Amino acid sequence: MKSAAQLSAAALLLSGAADAFWRMPCTARTGLARIDPLVNPGQVSPHSHVIHGGKNFHLDTNYNDLVQSECTSCRVTEDKSAYWTPALNFIHEDGTTEVVPQIGGMLAYYLLFKNEGEKIEAFPPGFQMLAGDNRQRNFTLSFPDMEKSLWSQHPEETTQKNLGLKALGFNCLNYAINPEPSMYRHFLPDKNYMDQHCPQGIRAEIFFPSCWNGELDSPNHKDHVAYPDLVNGGKCPDSHPRRIPSLFYETIWFTNKFNGKPGQFVFSNGDPTGYGYHADFINGWDQKFLQSAIDQCGNPSGKIEDCPVFQGHIQSEADTAQCTFDVPEVLAKDNCDGPADGLCGNVPIQAGPGYATVIEPGNVEKPTGGYKPPHVTEQPAVPTLSYAPARSAVTDEYGGGISVARVNHANAGKNNGAAAPAPTPAPEALPNQSTGKGSIISTSTFTSAGVVYEVVIEEVPIYVTVDAPEKEGQVKRHYMHLRRDKEHGLLGKRHFH
Ligand SMILES: *[C@@H]1O[C@H](CO)[C@@H](O)[C@H](O)[C@H]1NC(C)=O
Ligand SMILES: *[C@@H]1O[C@H](CO)[C@@H](O)[C@H](O)[C@H]1NC(C)=O
Repeated sequence: MKSAAQLSAAALLLSGAADAFWRMPCTARTGLARIDPLVNPGQVSPHSHVIHGGKNFHLDTNYNDLVQSECTSCRVTEDKSAYWTPALNFIHEDGTTEVVPQIGGMLAYYLLFKNEGEKIEAFPPGFQMLAGDNRQRNFTLSFPDMEKSLWSQHPEETTQKNLGLKALGFNCLNYAINPEPSMYRHFLPDKNYMDQHCPQGIRAEIFFPSCWNGELDSPNHKDHVAYPDLVNGGKCPDSHPRRIPSLFYETIWFTNKFNGKPGQFVFSNGDPTGYGYHADFINGWDQKFLQSAIDQCGNPSGKIEDCPVFQGHIQSEADTAQCTFDVPEVLAKDNCDGPADGLCGNVPIQAGPGYATVIEPGNVEKPTGGYKPPHVTEQPAVPTLSYAPARSAVTDEYGGGISVARVNHANAGKNNGAAAPAPTPAPEALPNQSTGKGSIISTSTFTSAGVVYEVVIEEVPIYVTVDAPEKEGQVKRHYMHLRRDKEHGLLGKRHFH
């Protein structure tokens, strides 16, 4: 069975159609600390981050500080930008918490998606932005994502909020099989799933918006930028007509270090679900230099070595590891690496699905210690599904996996007038990842009269015996409604045929 999803994945992965891009390896981190000069300038951030890029990073770092950095932990010495995300932690059964080892720093992709006639503009001095929502703990669209060509017919698929939720992913790494597509799974798989399926760990991924209104920042650090209507490609909203590079961060967390150990993974902001994953960027490029790179780095390899603009500006991985920032005095007692009691800053775990409460910044009185999280919290209801394996054009020695071919918006638009194709495309199910009788190929949730229903579509092989030739291996869809409510969890199961 060839599904719409597969066909589109194949189209997406044709590297020949790739727009220009480069992959900036920020091979070491400058630090791990409760610092967030974008969201909490001048204060101690409520939670810790892993930070990469320019050395001049402190509680209220800005563009001018960064460009004066004497070094960067990224491979191109001209890139003094600051890149940061929450840290992934492992909480042992007794509450002892430690940071999960990060492999290879992080990669910052500069993907140059644009449509006919558009120009991509370099980030100007003072430009900064935030992607993701620290407080988010649920996801209400279908999973896997609806086929992109259908989004334009479903307004809820393309709200800025929902595009943002679809702009992040947690890729289960098993280098022995074909990789999962990027941004396929928008939640952190649970520990059992990781133990069984992800021997090389989890790659956290997040896309930034690439449409821009020309402002350097906005009060929530998000409203001056917007996602194009297909997240990574597509059309910019009229309010944000200008194009900036599409930034995409990848960070590999070696979760397998804790294989077989009882406990739970949780991000440093108290999020065990992954829905609250977020990322920050403060530009630290010289604008002219970045513009030359945007205009001239056309090599489809995406390697910085293949871009003429970067030649003479590339340092070794060993050099990047020498570049660390000075930890502010106020954080001297923090131990965000652990092992420690609980998360750095005593952040409580909030599993949702409600919007997480605000944790006030500046908790310097009680650095790590004192707070013991409750015994491993109950994992929120996350589907563990089969997935459509995808070949990635750029899985390489950097561990990068994003497909860099663009989605052709003009083609996507062609479907608009056509008779509506089946609304939920079914990725091909892998035989073994079934809950019992068949393979789950899709789940989604909807709410009706205050009850949250989870719809699971399970594909069951059926064998039909007829008089003459025996037909085998037909499939039928099998709809299972799992009735849940917030208080009581799973209430019952009904099967539909
Ligand atoms: C899901 O998150 C949103 C915030 O983005 C919140 O308003 C909503 O109540 C949450 N849904 C549930 C079922 O808790
Ligand atoms: C599926 O399960 C069978 C029997 O349990 C096993 O032999 C086979 O290797 C599994 N296949 C995959 C792809 O995991």
